[in-house]
Amino acid sequence: MYVCLCHGFTDSQVRDVVATGCTSVSDVYRRLGDLPQCRKCVPEVCALVRQGRLDCPDAVWMEAAE
Ligand code: FES
Repeated sequence: MYVCLCHGFTDSQVRDVVATGCTSVSDVYRRLGDLPQCRKCVPEVCALVRQGRLDCPDAVWMEAAE
């Protein structure tokens, strides 16, 4: 399902980049496009990042070590 219509990325793409180490919303936008434009998708991206952190113990560990 499309999450961001301005940049044309999907929830699956967000989950993929979170699983490969994106631990913040701004990281996701850098990897998948650019800065948010209309920002309507930011809450959904934020929720996906939070969920990805919970699903990936390594990402939580990496964040704690920073
Ligand atoms: S829908 Fe994502 S920036 Fe507009």
